[in-house]
Amino acid sequence: MAIDLTVITRENVSVAVSADPGVSLMEAIRAAGIYELVALCGGSCSCATCHVFIEQAPAGLDSAAGGDEDDLLDSSEHRQPNSRLSCQILLDAALNALVVRIAPED
Ligand code: FES
Repeated sequence: MAIDLTVITRENVSVAVSADPGVSLMEAIRAAGIYELVALCGGSCSCATCHVFIEQAPAGLDSAAGGDEDDLLDSSEHRQPNSRLSCQILLDAALNALVVRIAPED
């Protein structure tokens, strides 16, 4: 079953994105053609250019960033309490209706 997400771009445009379970949120955003989410390191948790804000989280999302993700987010001047690296969120059915906003560029 596809997972339906909403991605809000830096221009404040809401884009409906549909993704298969098992892909990362970063991969789903890129596959939808939203390339302002750069994802420079390709998902290996080392660039922080896949930074998003969780605007609306279903109960299935563990919203806390941990370990390397937490350290990388600390390097962003735009970090907020709802910041996550989208490459570190694997999509599954519990995340249906997730709403995220792409963080400003650092
Ligand atoms: S894509 Fe580089 S940290 Fe997520």
